[in-house]
This record gives sequence, structure tokens and C-alpha cells, in this order.
Amino acid sequence: MNAPISGSAFIPADLPEPSFADLAHLPGMMPVRSQMLRTINFLKDPLASSLAMYNLHGRVVRRQDFGGWGVSLIGPEANELVMFNKDKIFSSSLGWNPVLENVFPRGLMLMDFDEHRVHRKTLSVAFKTEPMKHYFNELQSGIARGIAKWPNSGEFKFYPAIKALTLDLAAASFLGVPWGPDADKINRAFVDMVLAATGIIRKPLPFTQMRRGVQGRKFLCEFFGREIPKRRGVPGDDIFSQICNATNEDGVLLTDQEIIDHMNFLMMAAHDTTTSSISSMVHFLGLHPEWQDRIRAEIGAVKAETGGELTYEALGRLETIEMVFKESLRLIPPVPSMPRRAIKDFVFMNHHIPAGSHIGITPMVTHRMPDVWPDPDRFDPLRFTAENSRGRHKYAWVPFGGGGHMCLGLHFAYMQVKAFFFALLSQNRIELAPGYKGEFAMFPIPKPKDGLPLRIVAL
Ligand code: HEM
Repeated sequence: MNAPISGSAFIPADLPEPSFADLAHLPGMMPVRSQMLRTINFLKDPLASSLAMYNLHGRVVRRQDFGGWGVSLIGPEANELVMFNKDKIFSSSLGWNPVLENVFPRGLMLMDFDEHRVHRKTLSVAFKTEPMKHYFNELQSGIARGIAKWPNSGEFKFYPAIKALTLDLAAASFLGVPWGPDADKINRAFVDMVLAATGIIRKPLPFTQMRRGVQGRKFLCEFFGREIPKRRGVPGDDIFSQICNATNEDGVLLTDQEIIDHMNFLMMAAHDTTTSSISSMVHFLGLHPEWQDRIRAEIGAVKAETGGELTYEALGRLETIEMVFKESLRLIPPVPSMPRRAIKDFVFMNHHIPAGSHIGITPMVTHRMPDVWPDPDRFDPLRFTAENSRGRHKYAWVPFGGGGHMCLGLHFAYMQVKAFFFALLSQNRIELAPGYKGEFAMFPIPKPKDGLPLRIVAL
């Protein structure tokens, strides 16, 4: 089912693969005997090891974490150079393909330049105000149903519970109908695909995670493929129906395979990132209950205005939830680093970096730079008041990326997070379980190591 990766006029066919020698002039890691051991060490604590490299070498670091040699570019200026990509130096598809192409090929993030622009514009119909209002209603009722099923005052693990809920919510807003009898299989397929995308073995050999991921993809391709004919030409408010009927600038519909690939990718892009960010917010709100009180006061004020409901128009009033969201994403960004590949030579901070280099930009590190974020490890949502944000570099806070590939679901994510905490905190309090360690595995998508045990206590 995998469509071939189309070439791009911008990308040279003979792009070199820079070796250590080609990057030897840069500060950074030296060759070691066991690359595997280096990767394992990195994965033990990606944040600490990346910060250590930054403290030792600065904003341009030669690295070898996943086998081959590459270059980490750190800081707001690096983020701007790479994400804004004014001179079309960086390919997103060549960066992400090695990670995602076996299981999520031809997603938007795996396209470049003109092709990417055309597809992004086509998909963006599904993120305009009218469909967003529809998703908002679906989200609200799904969230109320989901929270009602959680134990009342009893301890449970929040992470698996919110992961299941965000998948259910995706069914409503992405598909327009419940997943039905296939729900468990769909969930399993996604889990397998995401694990495969980040597994160490990159070929679908028997008994490997990659094999399970590729099988999961086959299952989902068939699932979406069966549904497409039912949606073509039929108006619908869900994302899937919108995409089935979306046309490009020349009025041409997407092919079945394109729709399948976009749906698979969208589900992946939306699901684990939202799960991660809601979990980190719950973690910080549990550690800092005074912010729960502030949010509750804000909810009360909104309810007084609207007569009790959260309306689409009132979402902008939930500024405290928004600040907590932003600060949580600063400290625990759901996409801790983003890969690219340089298709031309370039110079950054007086360092010459050759074409073909694998480039990593790392929000996880930029978000902890003390000169940009004073006392960077401290949780302080007030960093994001309008006044405190003034003068900060536009690319200092980049959990949603930036430039042409900036997250297409950004507003959807804000809406979902606000609807969730409005429903949860109106009449409840989050209490972390005694002994909760508060540790997050930061890679590939952050999640609490112990599942985030807590109680939701009715007020
Ligand atoms: C808190 C939640 C989310 C976070 C932190 C997040 C983060 C990101 C980031 C960092 C990128 C850019 C990656 C890069 O440039 O290499 C991205 C791209 C993308 N995201 Fe999100 N995302 C979130 C939620 C969502 C949701 C809910 C959707 C869909 C409903 C979505 C759809 C997409 C798509 C389609 C792209 C690719 C855009 C492009 O390449 O043009 N994301 N996201």
C-alpha cells in the first residue's frame, strides 16, 4: 500500500552522507567504539544528556546518537533558520523519512516545498472555523462521557486513561462515528505503529516491533480504504469527510491512497502529542495545586458569563489554562526534537555545515536555556502573560514547530486541552498519589514513567 516517495526538483539525487571527517571542524562528540551504547546512554536521560552537550559545546554540536553523524542546532536563532527555512536549505521529508516512512509515509510532515504547500492548503479546509466548531461540540460531549467513567475518588493511572479517551475523542471528531467493534484493534494498530516508528530495528523483520507496526499500518489502510467510498460526495463535519471531499487548487480531489496516508498521519500527529501534553499539565497541576484553584476561578467567571456552558466563543477567555498549557509544553514538549536534512551547504554561527548533514533542532533544550528562560526548571505559567512574553524571540517557544511545517492541528490542540480542563476542574481536584515520582520518559514522545497515578476528587 505504500506509495512511492516522489522526488523533488529541490532535492539533489546525489546528496552526500557526511562522515565524522566532514564534520570534524565542529564542536561535539568524538567517535566511540560502540555507537549502540552511546544511543542507549542517550535514551536513559535525553534531556540531561542534551543539556550537558549544550553546556559543553554551545549551540552547534556534532552528534552521533542514533548511529550516523549529525548536527544539533540549538536556540531560537537556529529554530528560526531551520523552521522558517527561508532559503529552502532544509528538507523535512529527508529528516523524518528514516523515522516515519515505514509506518506513516506521505504524511504532510514528510513532504517538502511545493508539494507540501499544495497538500497543506488542501487539508487546511478541515481546520477552518466552521468544522472546528463542530469538533468542539463533539469533543465536549466525548470528554464529559469519558471523565464520568473514571473512578470517583479512587486511585487510577491517568496516562492510560487519557490515552484511551483521546483516541475515543479522535473517533468522534476525525471520523464522525464511534470506532465500533474495531476500536481495540485500531488502538493496538496505532500503538504498534508509533512504537515501530521509534524502534531501534528499522526493517520489518519477523517478531520485531517494526513488523508489528507495518501490520498495524496495513490494518488501518484497509480500514480507512473501506470507508472512503461512503464519504466521497457526501457532506460531513468530521475531518475524514472533509478530507475525502477536499480539492486542491486545480479542483482535483485527493486520491484514495493520499487520503489514507493523510488520515493515518493526522491521527498519529494528534493522538500521542495531546495525550502527552494533557498528562504533563495534570502532573504540574498536581504538583502546584494553587494553579488548579486559579483555573477553577477562571472557569467560574466564564460560567457566570455564558450561563454555565463552555462555548466556542468563550475559549479565548481561558487564559489561565492557556498559560499552564504553554508552560507545561515548555518544560515537557511532546515533540522534543525535530529532524531535518540540509540539501545545501550553509553557515550558522560561523560554522560551515555541508549539504547532506542530518540536522536536529531541539525544543527540549531551547526551552531550558537560562538566558531565554530565567530559572528554567521552575514551573511558572506567568512567563506567558502578555507582558512577560514581550520581547521574547519568536522562536524561543516552539512546541508546535514554526514556519511552513508548523503544527496544522495547533488550534485543535488548544481547544481540546481547554475543553478537557474546563470539564475536569470545574467540580474536581487532582490529587497525585502518595509516592508519585513525577518522572517523565522524554523520548520519543514524553510520558510519565509510572503511568501518573492519581485521584480525581469531587469538590
Ligand atoms: C499538544 C499537541 C500537539 C503538539 C505539541 C504538536 C506538535 C507538532 C510539531 C512540533 C509539528 C512540526 C514538526 C516539524 O516541523 O518537524 C507538528 C506538525 C503537525 N501536526 Fe501537530 N502537534 C500537536 C497536536 C496536533 C493535532 C491535534 C493535530 C491534528 C488534529 C496535529 C497535526 C499536525 C500536522 C498535520 C502536522 C504537519 C504539518 C506540516 O508538516 O505542514 N498536531 N505538530
